[in-house]
Amino acid sequence: MLSMGIDIGGSGFRMGVFDITTGALQGEFHQHQHQAPITPQTLVDRLRSCLEEANWSGPLGIGFPGAIQQGTVLTAPNLGDDWIGMNLREELMGHHNGSFALINDADAVGVAEYRMGAGRGETGTLLTLTIGTGIGTTVHHNGVMTPNLEYGRHQHPRLNGCLEEHISAAARSKNQWSIEQWAERFQEGLDYFENLVSPDCIILYGGIMEHWKEISPHLSTPMPIKAARYGETAGALGAALVAVDGVNVSLG
Ligand code: BGC
Repeated sequence: MLSMGIDIGGSGFRMGVFDITTGALQGEFHQHQHQAPITPQTLVDRLRSCLEEANWSGPLGIGFPGAIQQGTVLTAPNLGDDWIGMNLREELMGHHNGSFALINDADAVGVAEYRMGAGRGETGTLLTLTIGTGIGTTVHHNGVMTPNLEYGRHQHPRLNGCLEEHISAAARSKNQWSIEQWAERFQEGLDYFENLVSPDCIILYGGIMEHWKEISPHLSTPMPIKAARYGETAGALGAALVAVDGVNVSLG
């Protein structure tokens, strides 16, 4: 079965169609750049025209970089405050005919990794961290995910501001930290998340994982840490999976 996924981020959106049994991308993965802050109207217009052009009538899942409840945007720290309170599901559903899902972008990555990636077969509590403009946090416990945890927005235990301001990939670029300098800061975040959820396994996802070999010697947890299996397609794939099967699937 095929399903389309769109992954909206702070600097662009990406879309593709996936075979949901194998996770394989079918055809091209389209990427569209934008610069945040971006108004809902501008981005929704772009999304609508891409959907119309794709003329897709199968399932469609969308990952959004903020908390989403019943199709409504609760937070959008990397897109702008204009988004808060907007019913994005209503804005986009009419431009498409099949089943529809709208979830947090990090939760979408977590679903892809849990069902088809590095988390497949893991039992107990799996914590997936997405490292990008922000920090996304997703927990699966025996197949069940609680959406919108947003732990990256928690106050840093030692510094002013929230955790992601100090440990995201955006923080690394802004402060021009070396991989080692960043990993040292990231470790503080890991300690915090670990105390919060006591994970049995942690998956790390994001472009920065290109440097995984350099990063891993600087991180320590009592539990295994794994690099994500998927790269840039993970969010779109996870959203596409949720559009077909919903958020919680028992993998038996
Ligand atoms: C947002 C999350 C999002 C994460 C990754 C954070 O700033 O609060 O909702 O999942 O960035 O995009």
